[in-house]
Amino acid sequence: MSAPLRQHLIDPEICIRCNTCEETCPIDAVTHNEDNYAVDAAICKACLDCIAPCPTGAIDNWRLVRRPYGLDEQLEWDELPEQEALGSGAGAGGEAGEEEVQRLLAEAQAGAGGKSQAPASAAKPSVNLYSRAEPAVAAVAGNFRITERDAASDIRHIVLDFGTQSFPVLEGQSIGIVPPGEDGTGRPHRVRLYSVASPRDGERPNHNNLALTVKRETYEAEGTMRDGVASGYLCDLPKGAQVQVTGPFGNSFLMPDDPSANLVMVCTGTGSAPFRAMTERRRRRHRETDGRLLLFFGARTPGELPYFGPLMKLPERLIRKEVCFSRLPGQPKEYVQDRMLKQAEEVAALLQDDKTHLYICGLKGMESGLHEALESICRGPRMEWRSLRSEMLESGRFHVETY
Ligand code: FAD
Ligand code: A2P
Repeated sequence: MSAPLRQHLIDPEICIRCNTCEETCPIDAVTHNEDNYAVDAAICKACLDCIAPCPTGAIDNWRLVRRPYGLDEQLEWDELPEQEALGSGAGAGGEAGEEEVQRLLAEAQAGAGGKSQAPASAAKPSVNLYSRAEPAVAAVAGNFRITERDAASDIRHIVLDFGTQSFPVLEGQSIGIVPPGEDGTGRPHRVRLYSVASPRDGERPNHNNLALTVKRETYEAEGTMRDGVASGYLCDLPKGAQVQVTGPFGNSFLMPDDPSANLVMVCTGTGSAPFRAMTERRRRRHRETDGRLLLFFGARTPGELPYFGPLMKLPERLIRKEVCFSRLPGQPKEYVQDRMLKQAEEVAALLQDDKTHLYICGLKGMESGLHEALESICRGPRMEWRSLRSEMLESGRFHVETY
């Protein structure tokens, strides 16, 4: 069977038919009829010249295919086809890994109190392009510590480069990392999930790369300190090392493709990763908008808060930052839910606006405290958090991912 081909496609649902891609393409691979724009797979060399000028991102769509979609097909589409199953890739190992990943994701998103929906305007995510049996292989382009040198947590910003392989992600999606080696029972280590911390056009725009925010898990066993299997492996990777990657995963914890949407983002620790991606997406694409970004971020101290310096430098007109700390010497412990209660009026006003999306990501333990805080916040203007939460869930405006 032939190797899969990475085909460049245009999303007809997002495309505004402005002709920019056709004008930009240096080799005339883009064409159109009265309905759609399309990319000729026989001509396109994936030079990416057309990606940045496209005002909507409709041009930045890719599918792995065994037989490329023809121009006639593309020109008739109302929507992009789903990623097709590539057959032989899903061996027994792949399926088993896949089930495990779905279980992990479902567990992480279970706190939402029901199955959450993607925001109505979110772009369609690609999922399950690579399995354990046929992983993508990425090279480490960078691995930097982003907590202070003397901080207890070693949290790293790791950039993975996918070279010529197509690995399209949207803000809020996760990827799977396959740690090398076997567990104590002689089985290959299971895949671990990590949120993508960069926006869809890459950590370095249009370089087919993405960033992760990984905390080195440590624990004591038999009297010695040990590292978690996957996080230890990732945190120690040198530049240039190759990593097996599965995914992308996740089709609901996504960003609305609506610059006027308000995003209230609540996180601890590495739960900030998807919010870094969303904030950067808005900074690159939609600087001038009335849609607000409000971030509640809890950490032990500033030195333990990943990306503290760069985060604090982001302008207030882009994102309002409410950072709080639990272990500042001589200060009372403050958690994200405490900070939200202090800003109750403002949070309540935002929750009453149906352009507001609420995202929670990070420690599983924070969920109960957050729900209590939201109940109290809603009581002020005589709202009921339980019913508002159901309403927001149904309309794709409430999202939880905790682990
Ligand atoms: P493991 O080896 O799996 O160990 C985990 C814990 O198990 C240890 O800390 C310890 O408490 C216990 N343990 C393991 N072995 C022993 C033993 N022999 N004796 C005693 N105790 C033991 N993490 C991030 O850092 N960044 C992210 O962006 C991120 N995103 C995620 C997104 C989702 C949707 C999900 C579900 C998880 C995410 N995670 C993220 C968590 C990540 O997937 C891993 O669970 C985490 O890195 C720990 O994996 P590990 O292999 O390093 O640890
Ligand atoms: P604490 O100092 O009590 O551990 P971590 O560094 O372990 O990833 O945690 C990130 C932040 O989340 C820390 O400030 C931690 O505080 C805080 N935290 C711990 N438990 C909760 C909880 N139940 N609700 C909200 N924040 C929490």
